[in-house]
Amino acid sequence: MSAPAAVLGTTPYVAYAYSYPHKTSYQPLDPPRPLRDVWLHERQESLFLYLHVPFCEFRCGFCNLFTFANPAGDWTKRYVAQIRHEAEQVRQALPDASFTRLAIGGGTPTFLEVDELSKLLQVATEVMGAQPKQIPVSIEASPATATSEKLSLLREFGVDRLSLGVQTFDERDSRSIGRPQRTCDVEQTIAHVRAIGFPVLNLDLIYGGEGQTMQAWLDSVKAAIQYQPEELYLYPLYVRELTGLGSKPHSWPDQRLPMYREAREVLLSSGYEQVSLRMFRKPQMSNDEGPVYCCQSDGMIGLGPGARSYCSTLHYSTEYAVGKSGVAAILSDYLDRPVADFNSARHGFVLDDEERERRYLILSLLQVSGLDRSDYVTRFGRDVVEAFPHLRELISSGLVEEDRYLRLTTTGLELSDAIGPWLYSSRVQRLMESYTWH
Ligand SMILES: C[S@@+](CC[C@H](N)C(=O)[O-])C[C@H]1O[C@@H](n2cnc3c(N)ncnc32)[C@H](O)[C@@H]1O
Ligand code: SF4
Repeated sequence: MSAPAAVLGTTPYVAYAYSYPHKTSYQPLDPPRPLRDVWLHERQESLFLYLHVPFCEFRCGFCNLFTFANPAGDWTKRYVAQIRHEAEQVRQALPDASFTRLAIGGGTPTFLEVDELSKLLQVATEVMGAQPKQIPVSIEASPATATSEKLSLLREFGVDRLSLGVQTFDERDSRSIGRPQRTCDVEQTIAHVRAIGFPVLNLDLIYGGEGQTMQAWLDSVKAAIQYQPEELYLYPLYVRELTGLGSKPHSWPDQRLPMYREAREVLLSSGYEQVSLRMFRKPQMSNDEGPVYCCQSDGMIGLGPGARSYCSTLHYSTEYAVGKSGVAAILSDYLDRPVADFNSARHGFVLDDEERERRYLILSLLQVSGLDRSDYVTRFGRDVVEAFPHLRELISSGLVEEDRYLRLTTTGLELSDAIGPWLYSSRVQRLMESYTWH
């Protein structure tokens, strides 16, 4: 399909291409691949360590992440113990790995009790050898679970970026997206985060829910700006299968594009700069703080089910699910897994040279800073437009500008969630289409 038809034709909101390939394209690896072999010829001196916490205090109506609400009994304790076992196996397979980034995400990591959170942090240092005081460390939190005691523990450990899911400061809008949240909890948590002194506060907001007015949306954006967060993520709402919102009849006028445009204006005129369709930050925040890590090319070790790991030739994780029973089955399988099974990759996607180039293209082009063409030639030995001639269609339809860089235009940026999927390979598209949501 030509770019204007596929990208300009229907909706700008096809899929959020935050990584490539998507986990729904992963397949069973048969036979499983020992991690030692997977990583043997890979650079291991600049890796990203990611710890996943797939638990939350409730399941928000919009949320399609791999997470489980209100786990019963001893699941969180067993989870923290099991992630340590997994880490020990991974460390044995990659004894020389060193980490230049650490992130703890979810789900809601701050759902864990203080002692569980503390044990989880010890996995990163004692087992994996991460040095949180010397590298950027980020964590996700929800307002009601981020108590001052947990926040102090995190700051002392070396967390310098705290990302808080706010979604909205308006309780009517919060109800309509299925998030039981009190604005006073949000305000109190932000005050605690500021008092404890995390260098970077990020706030997540969502726009486009049923009945949300432009006024209410912009009021939430302005309420967020009042706290002068170093970063702000504005998420267009996606109503996905097997979520609370997706399982009910859902149809209302789509206001996402005008809402994005207005909020963008407010943020730019308040001194924020745009990094991508969703991300805005204060100008003094620079990408290259801390040791160098390049998300397009350096590897990641993810621990816990739902976490993806990747090196140049293989991306892998546990199976993926969104629905309650699918997530519960994967989690309970993880909790019962024999420790020795953690030393191999069982489910993933093998990247050939072309997929590696494509991944680099997608992750670079969807950033406002764009794709540096000479850098691309140095990495892959050919010009990016020569490698992917259909980029010409984006250029000729005014969605991408070319000089030394390929950069999305303002219209192109608005269409990021259509351009990303349009650049997926036919193999990835086929695999994603054949995935059965569960
Ligand atoms: C891991 S959560 C954030 C931390 C924490 N669990 C919380 O909700 O407060 C990641 C973010 O993804 C966004 N998100 C999740 N599902 C979404 C969807 N279907 N549409 C738009 N944004 C979504 C939300 O803004 C959410 O804050
Ligand atoms: S948005 Fe956050 S709190 Fe809500 S279900 Fe998703 S991960 Fe959990």
